[in-house]
Amino acid sequence: MAGGAYVDSGKAKEFDGKVTAFVLVTCFVAAMGGLLFGYDLGITGGVTSMEPFLVKFFPGVYKQMKDESGHESEYCKFDNELLTLFTSSLYLAALIASFFASTTTRMLGRKTSMFAGGLFFLVGALLNGFAVNIEMLIIGRLLLGFGVGYCNQSVPVYLSEMAPAKIRGALNMCFQMMITIGILVANLINYWTSKLDNGWRISLGVGAVPAVLLCVGSLFLGDTPNSLIERGQKEQARTMLQKIRGIENVDEEFHDLIDASEASKKVEHPWKNITKPVYKPQMVFCSLIPFFQQLTGINVIMFYAPVLFKTLGFGDDAALMSAVISGGVNVLATFVSIFSVDKFGRRLLFLEGGVQMLISQIAVGTMIALKFGVSGEGSFTKGEANLLLFFICAYVAAFAWSWGPLGWLVPSEICSLEVRSAGQALNVAVNMLFTFAIAQIFLSMLCHLKFGLFFFFAGFVVIMTIFVALFLPETKGVPIEEMNSVWRSHWFWSKIVPAADNNDNRKNTIEN
Ligand code: BGC
Repeated sequence: MAGGAYVDSGKAKEFDGKVTAFVLVTCFVAAMGGLLFGYDLGITGGVTSMEPFLVKFFPGVYKQMKDESGHESEYCKFDNELLTLFTSSLYLAALIASFFASTTTRMLGRKTSMFAGGLFFLVGALLNGFAVNIEMLIIGRLLLGFGVGYCNQSVPVYLSEMAPAKIRGALNMCFQMMITIGILVANLINYWTSKLDNGWRISLGVGAVPAVLLCVGSLFLGDTPNSLIERGQKEQARTMLQKIRGIENVDEEFHDLIDASEASKKVEHPWKNITKPVYKPQMVFCSLIPFFQQLTGINVIMFYAPVLFKTLGFGDDAALMSAVISGGVNVLATFVSIFSVDKFGRRLLFLEGGVQMLISQIAVGTMIALKFGVSGEGSFTKGEANLLLFFICAYVAAFAWSWGPLGWLVPSEICSLEVRSAGQALNVAVNMLFTFAIAQIFLSMLCHLKFGLFFFFAGFVVIMTIFVALFLPETKGVPIEEMNSVWRSHWFWSKIVPAADNNDNRKNTIEN
């Protein structure tokens, strides 16, 4: 069977403990990192369509947009490399930062990385808000990218390690929920500031507020027991475990963490380690999950919803409003995931989400093809426009309860301690690489593929859904340091990952 649940194999360990208020507050602060990421994802599209911003920093682009005669077709109205480079440079910076973040997270702790991320965000937002020249704008943008790299590397790991296994999915998904809230807040702020003179300064500068919260918050956050043990602070780790589980006797879980840490210490180089045969599944999932997540095409909607709606003939206000509606659906649908992921499992959400995305993408592509054809000339009636918006929302909702949150949850929970930082860095790097690629080429893809763009992403959704059905084991309820055993009960991975004695294949790993 493709996804034999680990719990069914009879080996799952349950550790004692409650869900304490302390762990919830801690996770809330950590998830601020998600808010900042979401804010950056959502704010740029709106800012780059504000005229005063374009006139100040990209006068050439402004001229091109005003010059109606210069486009091959309606689909190409907004195609401009320089402007997309401004949007996408942040993700390149994040990609580079994630590798440094991996070392910081491992050697100095999860909270140090989160603090560093908050600081980068703070300086970046201030530089952007007060920018008087393009240099300030670009440097600010790069610093924001470093912030994303540091936070996305450390926050999901922090959340997964703090959480008791039975609600790990839900707690980890607070990261995604904050991302979606960040995107929605950014859209609303843009909706307001686009009507003000130089409103772009507010849009770009407001990011400083959650950045301060993250910086101050992470100074007071405790580090995870796993990280404390990893850095030799065993007593503090035990105290922290007692605090987050709300019980005195945490011996069993504590010893499991110590074992995990002892094993991971024998590993000299986590990067070399993750390429070993025994870590094949982690390597495969940490690269393919973020790749597929971006190839769902979600960021076409997130970055360019107003542009897309405008291209399809919606008026200025209607276009922004529609972006706000799909942003709201994104937030609400994430709750579905939070409440169901630890009950129904990861696989069910992935599979349902895949089918729903596919149907919606085909519907959107077909509607645009029928109305706009290849020339891009045409328009929707009000009823048709609403139907289109409905399908886009159905697509966003499906992503929001499947690939969105699971794209961050699964890679952070399948890696055992010895490869966790490396695995997560790989996940962030691949995610950022393809976020960059899609941001960079979307406008020219729309210009060339036209409505075919939606079928292009639909094709990838088919591939990723089959991939999950065949290869992803269920990880619901499996304690994080026990995760190595899920591969051995899987029809495919059991042939790849060497069998291990007793309950731990780490010994075998290290000797490999
Ligand atoms: C993805 C982002 C995306 C967002 C949308 C995240 O999980 O990594 O690229 O924009 O979800 O909610």
